[in-house]
Amino acid sequence: MKRTHIYIGGEWVRPASTDVVEVENPATEQIIGVVPAAGVTDIDRAVQTAQDALPHWAALSPAQRAAYLDRLWQHLDRRREEIARTVTLELGTPLKTAMAIQAGLPLTVLRSYADLAGDYKFSEWVGHSLVVKEPVGVVGAITPWNYPLHQMIAKVAPALLAGCTVVLKPAELTPFVAYLLTDAVHEAELPAGVFNLVCGHGPVAGAALAAHPGVDMVSFTGSTEVGKQISVFAAATVKKVALELGGKSANIILDDADLTTAVKVGVGNAMLNAGQTCTAWTRMLVPHSRYEEALELAAAAARKYPVGDPTLPDTRLGPVSSARQRASVLAHIDTGLSQGARLVAGADEAPSRGHYVPATVLADVKPDDVVAQEEIFGPVLAVIPYSDDEEAVTIANNSRYGLSGAVWSGNENRALAVAGRLQTGSVDINGAAFNPLAPFGGYKQSGIGRELGRHGLDEFLQIKAIQR
Ligand code: NAI
Ligand code: MG
Repeated sequence: MKRTHIYIGGEWVRPASTDVVEVENPATEQIIGVVPAAGVTDIDRAVQTAQDALPHWAALSPAQRAAYLDRLWQHLDRRREEIARTVTLELGTPLKTAMAIQAGLPLTVLRSYADLAGDYKFSEWVGHSLVVKEPVGVVGAITPWNYPLHQMIAKVAPALLAGCTVVLKPAELTPFVAYLLTDAVHEAELPAGVFNLVCGHGPVAGAALAAHPGVDMVSFTGSTEVGKQISVFAAATVKKVALELGGKSANIILDDADLTTAVKVGVGNAMLNAGQTCTAWTRMLVPHSRYEEALELAAAAARKYPVGDPTLPDTRLGPVSSARQRASVLAHIDTGLSQGARLVAGADEAPSRGHYVPATVLADVKPDDVVAQEEIFGPVLAVIPYSDDEEAVTIANNSRYGLSGAVWSGNENRALAVAGRLQTGSVDINGAAFNPLAPFGGYKQSGIGRELGRHGLDEFLQIKAIQR
């Protein structure tokens, strides 16, 4: 696979920079292709183009913009399989999961925005004031590699529906799926300059985009560390910032829960996408009274996740994204063990080629241990015992993060009461289904702002009050 161009003003153009990014298949450690690594000049050009395209796009009606999203959906939908295969190749997500989540989820989200236009109130009367919502302007979207297309769509779709124009800087590890999105944009004949793709290194192209005075809003998903830098870059021109950052979410299993289901689903959640999920329930909180039973169930559940070739239909646990990521995950496991954790699952032999990490369950983790505090972003679950509901809530909230979480109980009201006390942006009770229309985002250092549904659209609009 080789892409040599970036996409600006409705055309494939050659970047000014001759630098490239090599893309590796993390399952084979082979280089599968190259894409351009654009520089500051290329970002300038893309932002200028997005500024030029803004007035016309913003002047269309929401229904007209939604019709373009609908066309984009059709062109992406045709590529479902190619999207899944591409993400499996560049990221290592097992193919079955890739079809459902890496391809399916972004299509669901794009559909939801194409459908939202009719219901959303772009203006309303408040007393004698007409309150109108107008596009923020040019959006710089900087996205990560773990759910690459989903994270692009969760920004691009609401931004475009709002009337904003976009410059997208995707992650270095997973650029090819961004090219598939751009092919679909081109075929859907979105007006020139409304969507622009500039691949490049984070500290060069990403930083230039976040700092650019022509960008009105930066929407970023990635590490908390880079998110903080983005805020600093954006401050110089008082840009709006939306950040979706890390997590260390707690899965609270109450003493009256269906333990077998809670542990099985909890382990599955922690292993999804090799644990590279910002919402992963990476801390499992279990009452002392059911602790040893839960550990046995967790070990048995982890054994159902042997590492394997992500292109095979039965594989549930592929490699992590890169050699660097694997080294970081293994170092975290070592730190956990050195702080007194007990290995309940893991340390199995992994294939010599490929960035594999076995499904790992650490027991006896203390709430302040490094493995209970830091986002590991690998297939590693920390199990923490607790005495009563009060202590469970305290442990769950003992985190600088607050992105997601779970509560399991035989009594829904009890679960709701616990969920209400958690300092986090979302909570799933008894394994409730994902809702693509529900607001998604973080408390504390997990981020600023919300994505998805109506609340995700709000982010890309600014509000004007006209009195008469
Ligand atoms: P990262 O935060 O460095 O990368 C995310 C995006 O930011 C990429 O597009 C990258 O090119 C860009 N970027 C990097 N440095 C930048 C800078 N100085 N200015 C502007 N843009 C910049 O994530 P990385 O290094 O790939 O992963 C490290 C850790 O981050 C992971 O182990 C995980 O803990 C966390 N992470 C969290 C994600 C989430 O969904 N919340 C997604 C990816 C990573
Ligand atoms: Mg980084």
